[in-house]
Amino acid sequence: MRLLRRTTVRQQPPRNDEEKKRAKLIRKATVQDVKQIQKLVNYYAKREKMLPRSLNELYENIRDFFIYAEGRKVYGCCALHVDWEDLSEIKSLAVARSKSGKGIGKKLVAKCLKEAGSLKVKKVFALTYIPEFFGQFGFHIIDRKELPHKIWSECIKCMYFPGCKEIAMMREI
Ligand SMILES: CC(C)(COP(=O)(O)OP(=O)(O)OC[C@H]1O[C@@H](n2cnc3c(N)ncnc32)[C@H](O)[C@@H]1OP(=O)(O)O)[C@@H](O)C(=O)NCCC(=O)NCCS
Repeated sequence: MRLLRRTTVRQQPPRNDEEKKRAKLIRKATVQDVKQIQKLVNYYAKREKMLPRSLNELYENIRDFFIYAEGRKVYGCCALHVDWEDLSEIKSLAVARSKSGKGIGKKLVAKCLKEAGSLKVKKVFALTYIPEFFGQFGFHIIDRKELPHKIWSECIKCMYFPGCKEIAMMREI
């Protein structure tokens, strides 16, 4: 597997008015956002770009989520889930196609990484089909076997187990 460039994207100050406006539209999710988050995630899940999420799962983990919203309309989401003392995971990253390429995905990931830092979790991993995207943040590819058994309890419930093609990536905070 080819090596990814190891550059770290820090949370950059917004460069222009548009970016400033967009950065302000990222906030923690509330239960009122759950149905839209599910719609967004499951749109891509149907296209096999990410895993689907049930409403139950989303309500139970709503505190994990950051969203990008204009008014009440949710266009982007990303979650940071704490797994253990030194390990957390970035999950359910999605940006609506109508808003893609505007830096929203990057900002959502940066928010999650910042939160990992404030929670003092030392490592963040992601299971992803787009390693190039995570490579921009200094994530590097690891062997899935390096992940603790606890992670597999979710994997075995997944419809793609054991043939999943997601790539495991890790980054230190
Ligand atoms: C991946 C995704 C979240 C990116 O969101 P976005 O808001 O369009 O991304 P950004 O505008 O912040 O992109 C920032 C950078 O990432 C790159 N990038 C975007 N999508 C990418 C992809 N699918 N693969 C590799 N790089 C990608 C862009 O080229 C851009 O690079 P640049 O800053 O050098 O120009 C969005 O395309 C999406 O929801 N995809 C479908 C779901 C998915 O794949 N989720 C990830 C599951 S782990």
